Amino acid sequence: MTKAIRIHEYGGADNLKWEDVDVGQPGDGQVRVKHTAVGLNFIDVYQRTGLYDIGALPQTLGMEGAGVIEEVGAGVEGFAAGDRVAYAMGLGSYCEARVMATDRLVKVPDSVDDETAAAMMLQGMTARYLLKSSYAVQPGDTILIMAAAGGVGQIMSQWARHLGATVIGCVGSDAKAELAKANGCDHTILYNSEDVAARVREITDGEGVPVSYDSVGQATCEASLDSLAPCGVFVTYGNASGPITDFNVGVLGAKGSLYVQRPTLATFTRNRELLNECAGDLFDVVGAGAVKINVGQTYALAETAQAHRDLEDRKTTGSTVLMP
Ligand SMILES: NC(=O)c1ccc[n+]([C@@H]2O[C@H](COP(=O)([O-])OP(=O)(O)OC[C@H]3O[C@@H](n4cnc5c(N)ncnc54)[C@H](OP(=O)(O)O)[C@@H]3O)[C@@H](O)[C@H]2O)c1
Repeated sequence: MTKAIRIHEYGGADNLKWEDVDVGQPGDGQVRVKHTAVGLNFIDVYQRTGLYDIGALPQTLGMEGAGVIEEVGAGVEGFAAGDRVAYAMGLGSYCEARVMATDRLVKVPDSVDDETAAAMMLQGMTARYLLKSSYAVQPGDTILIMAAAGGVGQIMSQWARHLGATVIGCVGSDAKAELAKANGCDHTILYNSEDVAARVREITDGEGVPVSYDSVGQATCEASLDSLAPCGVFVTYGNASGPITDFNVGVLGAKGSLYVQRPTLATFTRNRELLNECAGDLFDVVGAGAVKINVGQTYALAETAQAHRDLEDRKTTGSTVLMP
């Protein structure tokens, strides 16, 4: 038996239950991982509320973890008992130990500790594909990042600066603006009280930005589109304020022949080659010190419900780790 955080029905944070579950033995192509740290992500909220379908319940939530392989099933290649591993997009990470296939696992270099690994796999690989694939940031670009003091936001801002970009970060408070500036943002905008597009035009001498990385969704969609230069890219990759449900593509023409992408990390790490490339790049920038993974808060895994409340109430900054 092991402990896990599960939901039996979709809904609020109170639905997250700390329960005994059976771990079982690894089957063909599987390993048993003992978690030493588990990552918290906003996608966990979407899955808890039912915005994203996760199939039959009860279900252990959580998409990211780090730990050590305890036991290896038949037919497993490339992984052995004792390996330090981490993963993202592997539903069921809110637990002390689990059995899982190896397709999402990567080995963690000695230079990265377990807490950092659990904090960075999902948010860091997301930052990587956004900055290199959704829109390939070039030195000299001035780019816009929403929720710049959050988990993905802090990693992206540092990485974008490392790539030679000037970063404009939108944040929800003065304290978060300070944090964003300390983590790669050249300019900050308080998007709850300032006119984002007007400030962006002011900073860019009227031109606008070639890309807006927008994880907030409904509340900032218009501000993102109005901040773009001609042929700019609206990368809408999250729904923290609610999903965009009534998008009229004609707007893209009216606002300057814009592009829109709704990307997912799953697409950009859909096979072993892409996963290794993405994770490898992330380990490189973190190992070189170009990107620092800031764990803003940790909670006991048993207290995951409180971590969800704080994330939804915009009380967290940087990455959040749950300790088994
Ligand atoms: N598509 C993908 O591949 C992918 C992968 C990873 C993450 N994401 C998305 O990226 C976003 C960031 O994820 P994260 O885990 O790093 O979370 P996070 O940014 O640490 O937390 C979310 C932040 O969004 C801002 N926000 C704005 N309006 C909000 C609202 N109504 N309710 C709650 N928060 C609001 C808050 O910052 P302020 O107070 O500064 O506004 C809050 O701190 C999420 O939308 C997530 O779904 C997408």
